[in-house]
Amino acid sequence: MLIVRTIPELRQALSAYHRPAFVPTMGNLHEGHLSLVRQAKPLGDVTVVSIFVNRLQFLPHEDFDSYPRTWEADCDKLRATGCDIVFAPRESDMYPEPQTFKVHPDPRLADILEGQFRPGFFTGVCTVVMKLFLAVFFGQRAGVAVFGQKDYQQLMVIRQMVRQFALPIEVHAGQTCRAEDGLALSSRNHYLSPAERAEAKALAAALRQLAERWCAARAAGALDAAALEQDALDALRARGWQPDYLTVRRRSDLQPATAADAPGTLVALGAARLGSTRLIDNLEF
Ligand code: PAF
Repeated sequence: MLIVRTIPELRQALSAYHRPAFVPTMGNLHEGHLSLVRQAKPLGDVTVVSIFVNRLQFLPHEDFDSYPRTWEADCDKLRATGCDIVFAPRESDMYPEPQTFKVHPDPRLADILEGQFRPGFFTGVCTVVMKLFLAVFFGQRAGVAVFGQKDYQQLMVIRQMVRQFALPIEVHAGQTCRAEDGLALSSRNHYLSPAERAEAKALAAALRQLAERWCAARAAGALDAAALEQDALDALRARGWQPDYLTVRRRSDLQPATAADAPGTLVALGAARLGSTRLIDNLEF
């Protein structure tokens, strides 16, 4: 497994290949990331994983400094998973001067849900992902990038960016990996105390219940989506959570779902803080 730090080194290493399969990450790799790497491997002729904690997508009060950095363990896991090239730029490689050119996604998709609670988040994500894509795919005819479905809105924003810029990249979605109790795997799960970890499964359960109640109310011709969402927020609050949102949206554009939208086209999305840890999850139904 080759480790490279700079964009020219990466391009040089990739010049021998035709179709990179790429998995961008911020490191602290867990089974969820490794399943994306396993999914990527057969899709290209070289598998590239980036590890870069991107300052641009963190708000000043967020966890950029404390975000877990586990370089040696990450490399061991990637080696064992059959990754060919790790691209791990230093901040000075990625942003040698302040990144004043940015990619601003469509506010209708990027300023709702996560973007409402983390303003500028998707501009930071799109800017670094575009830069990573240019580093990996520039000079290539085509390639594949794999993103986890746990970051549902991120996946949609990246798909729209790839489409609108006509990037020659197929975007694949990796299914969310879950612990036995249903908690979606996330690097931020490490922040949870043992008691919080035991409680954390309640977010996935709340989304499941919201989806079930939404379907039942629609079938009964008595859908009051706002009331159902409010009940779900109240129930989580009663368990000690501070939810940002729990909501049913159309998969196509993440706008609020109505009774005209049939199950099979919907997604329940949620974000909530447990203690100081903010968790997100989603469930298609
Ligand atoms: O999903 C992530 O880990 C990050 O948002 C990404 C896509 C690696 C960009 O920094």
